[in-house]
Amino acid sequence: MTSARATTTQRREAVRREARPKPEAQPAAEAVRTGRLLTGDRPTGKLHLGHYVGTLANRVKLQDEYDCFFLVADLHLLTTRLENLEEIQENIRQIVLDYLSVGIDPQRSTIVLQSLVPQTAELQLIFSMLISVPRLQRVPTLKEVMRDLHIQQPSLGLLAYPVLQAADILIVRGEIVPVGKDQASHLEVTREIARRFNEQFNPVFPEPRTLIGEVGTLPGVDGKTKMSKSLDNAIFLSDDPETVSKKVMGMYTDPTRIHPTDPGHVEGNPVFIYHDAFNPNKAEVEELKARYRKGTVGDVEVKRRLATALNAFLDPIRTRRAKYSPRDVDEIILAGSKKARAIAQETIELTRAAMKMNYFGG
Ligand code: TRP
Repeated sequence: MTSARATTTQRREAVRREARPKPEAQPAAEAVRTGRLLTGDRPTGKLHLGHYVGTLANRVKLQDEYDCFFLVADLHLLTTRLENLEEIQENIRQIVLDYLSVGIDPQRSTIVLQSLVPQTAELQLIFSMLISVPRLQRVPTLKEVMRDLHIQQPSLGLLAYPVLQAADILIVRGEIVPVGKDQASHLEVTREIARRFNEQFNPVFPEPRTLIGEVGTLPGVDGKTKMSKSLDNAIFLSDDPETVSKKVMGMYTDPTRIHPTDPGHVEGNPVFIYHDAFNPNKAEVEELKARYRKGTVGDVEVKRRLATALNAFLDPIRTRRAKYSPRDVDEIILAGSKKARAIAQETIELTRAAMKMNYFGG
């Protein structure tokens, strides 16, 4: 999702740009939105501040410019997990609630559940004829997943992961795909497939443009480079104020500082990285930094003020979250998927016609 190699300064700059807390959503003037955009997530769990800084803030903005589709890719999850699938339904609801709570607006954007658009699978099958096995074996993320999850022999489904992703995008004829750097190789596969189909048959598909966001990474509360659910160092968008305060008070800070009177390091200190990202009161942040460097403010006070700022940032998100009942969430998923299905059906008809396989009126 993000570059692990960015310097601390770059990272802070990026975080600063991306994480400006949005004031309560203005009813946006319905501008002309050109181009269809699709991006997605596998529903592996609830979203955290790192996701906010890395992608969600950007997605909220993109809604003004593009006709957005946000896909919950539950079928992609099957490529690496076949256990406890009954848990996924709750993950799906939580991730959609996270989308809604940050300001993804279901009136303007379409939230889609992948498995409710079965035309995707048909398109994947057709696409699987247009790309070779060795080409897919060379996709770098395949090796990474196999290494990380100790998979000796990839299943056909895991090998075809990027082909399914191509089908996700092209089933709605998506033109713009904002993703992290790690997904660039998948988008290359999507473009190759679109090109090959169009050359072999008739032009049906756009060659989607990848929008690699200049996004920031947020370190974890433990000071590790990246906030991540699996590292257990995340502050979730759905955490209540007490939980946030507790996590902040336990945050990793300058390890060289023993007493509050020792001069401390601000650069690379996660407490200050978060202050820069989420505390809109710049004067307060600058003052705290100056005092921290001199050794005239303790970590406890800096953290206490961070907890206050973070909770103020999360409050409107919590308020929006509370507006949606579980039934609302389910209806949003069903309505968005229905809309996507109608587009998908058109795409399948265009695809079959282009292939001259529209026999018997299909
Ligand atoms: N593979 C993406 C990820 O792991 C998730 C995804 C599935 C996706 N389908 C997509 C992203 C289509 C963009 C477009 O992050």
